[in-house]
Formats: sequence, C-alpha cells, structure tokens
Amino acid sequence: MAFWNRRRSLDALGDIEEHKRLKQTLSWPHLVALGVGAIVGTGIYTLTGVGAGLAGPAVILSFLICGVICACAAFCYAEMATLIPAAGSAYTYTYAVLGELLAWIVGWSLILEYTVAAAAVAVGWAGHAEALIVAAHWSIPSELMHGIGSGGLINLPAVFIAAVVTGLLIMGTRESATLNIVLVLIKLAALVLFVVLAMQSFDPALFKPFAPFGYGATAGPDGKNYGVLGAAAIVFFAFYGFDTVSTAAEETINPARNLTIGIVGSMALCTAIYIVVATIAVGAMSYTQFSQSHDAAPLVYILQSLSHGTAAQIVAAAVVIAIPSVILVLMYGQSRIFFVMARDGLLPQRLSTVHKTRGTPVLMTTLTGIVVMIMAATMDLSQIVELANVGTLTAFIAVATCMLVLRVRDPNRPRVFRTPLPWVVGPICILGCLYLAFGLPSLTQHWFLLWNSIGLAVYFLYAMHASRLAKSS
Ligand code: ALA
Repeated sequence: MAFWNRRRSLDALGDIEEHKRLKQTLSWPHLVALGVGAIVGTGIYTLTGVGAGLAGPAVILSFLICGVICACAAFCYAEMATLIPAAGSAYTYTYAVLGELLAWIVGWSLILEYTVAAAAVAVGWAGHAEALIVAAHWSIPSELMHGIGSGGLINLPAVFIAAVVTGLLIMGTRESATLNIVLVLIKLAALVLFVVLAMQSFDPALFKPFAPFGYGATAGPDGKNYGVLGAAAIVFFAFYGFDTVSTAAEETINPARNLTIGIVGSMALCTAIYIVVATIAVGAMSYTQFSQSHDAAPLVYILQSLSHGTAAQIVAAAVVIAIPSVILVLMYGQSRIFFVMARDGLLPQRLSTVHKTRGTPVLMTTLTGIVVMIMAATMDLSQIVELANVGTLTAFIAVATCMLVLRVRDPNRPRVFRTPLPWVVGPICILGCLYLAFGLPSLTQHWFLLWNSIGLAVYFLYAMHASRLAKSS
C-alpha cells in the first residue's frame, strides 16, 4: 500500500495479539493522579516567576488563556481516547484518522513533549536538590551538578532521579501509579501552604500596572518574547501532561468512564489551582522582585521574603520529594508511544515485547530512561522548555483535527464521550495552539522544523519500508 494511503483501521485497533497486550490495571483515581502528577510540576513552581517577568501581573491572563486552550484539548483527547482505547495517544489517533505519515510526524513531535520535558523536569528537580545539598553543607563539586549546557560537566542529581524513575516504571504500572498518588498529594499540599500564607500579604495595588509589556509577544533584546502571549507560550509547559492519561487507555479498566473522569478532572483541577497560585503570587509581592534573580524557586522566595522561612523550606522539600512524579508520568507516556510505534513496525519490532510477568515493555522503558538521562546530564532547563512546548502544541492540533475529521467521516460511530460544541471547541484548540506556537521565540520554531526534517528523513529511509501496514498489503 502506498504510504500516503496507509491508515490503521479503527475497528482493528482493539485487535492486538495477546502476548503484545498491556495488562488492564488502572482505575480513575490512578488516572486523575497520573494526570495531576504530570501537570503540576516545574511549570507552576518555577515558570510562574519567568511568566511574571514576561507579562507582569497579567501572567494571570496567560495562565487563563492556556487553561481555556488546554480544556478544549482535554475534551478532544477524551473523545478520541474513549473512541480508540489503544495505547499511543495522539500518535495512534492520527494513524487511524489522518494516515501514517502524519502519525509519524506526531509521534516524532511527542518525543519533544515526553522525553525532552522529562529531561527538563529532571534538571529542575536537580536545581532544588542542589539547594538542599548546599544547605546541608555537603561538598559536591559544582561541575558534577550542572550539565555542559549550564557551564558544568555532568548533572549527576538529574541522572540519579531519571534512573530511579526508570526503575519504578520497569517494576510495573500499578506500583508506580500508586506511589504517584502520594507524591501528588504532597505537591498539592505545598501549593495550598503557599496560598494560605502568601494570601495574608495580598495587596491589590500590586496589580498596577496590570500588563506592563502589553498583550502580544514582542521580542526583547534578550531574545525572549514579552507580553501576555509571550508568557502564555512559556507557561503552557505548566499545563500539559493531562494527555498522558490517554496513553494509558489500553491499561485502563472501563476506559469509557475512567478515562473521561481522568482527563477532564485532572485538567479542570489544575487550571483552578494555577490561577489561584498565580493571583496570590503577583498579589503578595511585586513581580519585579520575584521574577528576576529568583526564577528557579519563585514561590519559595516569596515565602522567605514574607518571613515564612520554615514554610519556605517545607515547600522546597516538597518539591524535591514530589517533582519526580512528573518525570515518572512523562517517561511512562514516552515508553508507551515508542512501544506502539514499534508494534506498528515504524521502529524495530523486537523492541516492543512485553515482559512475561510484569506486563510492561521493559526494553522500551529502559531505552527511554537512557535517553532522558543523557539529556538531563547535559542540557540546560531554559533551553528545552520551549522546544517541549512546540512538540506538545503539534500533538494537540493533531488530536483536535482527528476529532473533527472523524465527526465528518464517521458521524454514526458510537461515541461514549462526545466533545460538547465540537465545532467551537475543536477550532478553539487548533487556533489556540497555533496562537501559542506563534508566541514562541523564532529560534524555537527553527529548531522544531529541523527536528521534523530529521524525522522525515528517518521515515523515508527506514519506517516507511518497515511499517507493518506496508508488509500486510
Ligand atoms: N506540566 C509539567 C510541569 O509543569 C510538565 O512540570
């Protein structure tokens, strides 16, 4: 079959050989925790400061814009995930609806979402771990705590945390997801502590001027884009992760009900929390203070400056304990995407074997872990957040497009979850994601094009010929 005609059959997607099936072990509390576990992380704890520096108090609007766009994306994901309850998320939906080539591009972009973001969060974790190491007066050479991209040699704490998370994933989904629930509760408690204490210093006068850099995305001399849109394109990182829930579709008990609750519930909960945290942050202290030299831990800095020293330490420790849950969920998503791409023949098929007793794709998980460790060992946090964002925006656009195309092509297929007002919600998601991509620095856009050019070369040289659909025709 010519590659431009290759589409996975929607009916056959549930038809997977028994030894290649993932075990069904997850219910909705695991999925909400999986979603919140992926969503609340480096974004809210560190990018709140970066966003406020780019937009001023209007960073609240940036969070709101991202919340609306991601809520629309969450509805599209819920419809597609329940319609196609097979592992692979945006990649699998695109394969069934838009064909193999676009699916490959989406799968290739998802590497940016999952692996690059997992490495970024590992580096963010290492930054907080370093603060605790320094406070404990342990002497570890600075070159061993920063990657080459940040002027060091190797970021050992980041490698350490990536290795631990890889081990947890290999042990099995259920164990990892249950631990994840505990970690999610810890980081939510830290945010509640911040809100309760910082609220006591809330001063509405700090909201003036509200949008000192305007509402668009204006390039500054430092190469960053200032304004509400510029900040939205960055703080978008704080929002995604809920789509990871849909990658667990194949492992979910009663996916129609549990996936819907998992995706929409985790998204709504996090949007509400972010808007409250951002409003309290910019209302408790002038954004010019906490956004500049204290980018790494703005919430901790605010508490410290407001004489809540002990609470600041508790929040910092909670971040160090709980942020690994974000890495866990992102790496879980990546190993499942690779696993499905291999099962489809687009990556070497012998990598897709599921472990006999654990029911997890051990080899794929290990390989994902190694890539995350290499990136986390060498790269700088700020270099990669924007790149992760552009990959995720691509996936969201693909999922909303698939939802709309299927509504036209196959309107009578039974849908357990139907996106409300699909012709409003779908286009808001697609146009909103394009709007955010436009708000990213042009350098990121160029890197993204380069990344996909490499992806296309791999497709035409290898995947196109190795594809299972190519062989079955
Ligand atoms: N949303 C995740 C975070 O903020 C990626 O860390």
